[in-house]
Amino acid sequence: MRNVDEDTITQIVLARHAEAKKPRLKQIMTSVVQHLHAFARDVHLSEHEWFEGIQFLTEVGHITDDKRQEFILLSDTLGLSMLVTALNNHKPPGCTESTVLGPFFVEDAPQYANGDDLGNGAKGEACFVTGKVIGLDGEAVPNARIDVWQADSDGFYDVQYGERAETHGRGTLRSLSDGSFHFRSVTAESYPIPYDGPVGRMLTALGRHPWRPAHLHFMIDAPGYERLITHVFRSGDEYLDSDAVFGVRSSLIANWLRHESGTAPDGTVHDSPFSTLDFTFVLNRLEGTASRGR
Ligand code: BEZ
Ligand code: FE
Repeated sequence: MRNVDEDTITQIVLARHAEAKKPRLKQIMTSVVQHLHAFARDVHLSEHEWFEGIQFLTEVGHITDDKRQEFILLSDTLGLSMLVTALNNHKPPGCTESTVLGPFFVEDAPQYANGDDLGNGAKGEACFVTGKVIGLDGEAVPNARIDVWQADSDGFYDVQYGERAETHGRGTLRSLSDGSFHFRSVTAESYPIPYDGPVGRMLTALGRHPWRPAHLHFMIDAPGYERLITHVFRSGDEYLDSDAVFGVRSSLIANWLRHESGTAPDGTVHDSPFSTLDFTFVLNRLEGTASRGR
C-alpha cells in the first residue's frame, strides 16, 4: 500500500491485522489503533509532542525494575487500574467492594497466627485490628487466607527500603472457625505514591498531588468464594476525596478509634496511645457454588 495519508491510514493499519490468529488480540489491537489515531487527530499532535511522549514512556521503562513498577503507577494515576478493577468486579449489593492492588503486594508473605504483630518493628503507633470474614448470607468463612500489607508511619512499604531480611507491616493469617481474625500492626497514615520519577513529574505538571489517604491493604481467599482485593481507609483523612489513584469507595472507609492509653483488644495494657480498627469483609460466592447457610 502506497500514498497512505491522514484520512486513510487508520483503515489501512487495521487491514494489516486481518490475518491475526487470536480474535481477542485482534479486537484489542483494533481498538488500540483506533483510539490512538483518534487521540492524535483530536489534539492535532505535533511531532515534537509525539517525541516527548516517546521520551516519557522510555523513562517510565528505564526506572522500572523488579522493585519499582512505574508502568503500574502510570496506569494507577491515569485511573486505568481503578477502571479495570471496577469493570471486572461487579458484585451483588452487600459484598465488600474491591479496589486497586497497587504495586507493593508481595507473594508468599510470612504467615502469622491471630494475635501476632504483623508490624514486626515497623515505625508507627500500635494499631489493633479485629475483623470478620463472612459470606453474603452472613455465614462465617473459616480458614480464609488473609494477606495484609501497609506502609509505616513514614509512608514507606517494607519493599521500598531495598534489601531487608525481614518484612514489616506485611503478613498472612487465617480466619478462625467463626470467621474472625485479629492482629497487631501500626496505625496507617496517608502517604505519597513514589513521585521521584517520570510519573511524579507528570503529576506536578498537571497540578496534581501524589497522596493516598491512610489505608490497610487486604487480599482474602477462601474456597467457594471470589478473591477479594481491597483496602480499608481511615475516616477523616484529608485525601479521601483526592486519592492520587482514585481507589476510595465510601463503603471501605472505617473509624480507627484512638486511645490515649488503656487495655488493648488483646488484653495488653498500654500507657502510650494506640488505635483500634474493626471491619467485616463480605465475600461474594463463586458462581455455581451453593449457599452454605448460616
Ligand atoms: C498502594 O496503595 O500501595 C498504591 C497504589 C497505587 C499506586 C501506588 C501505591
Ligand atoms: Fe497502599
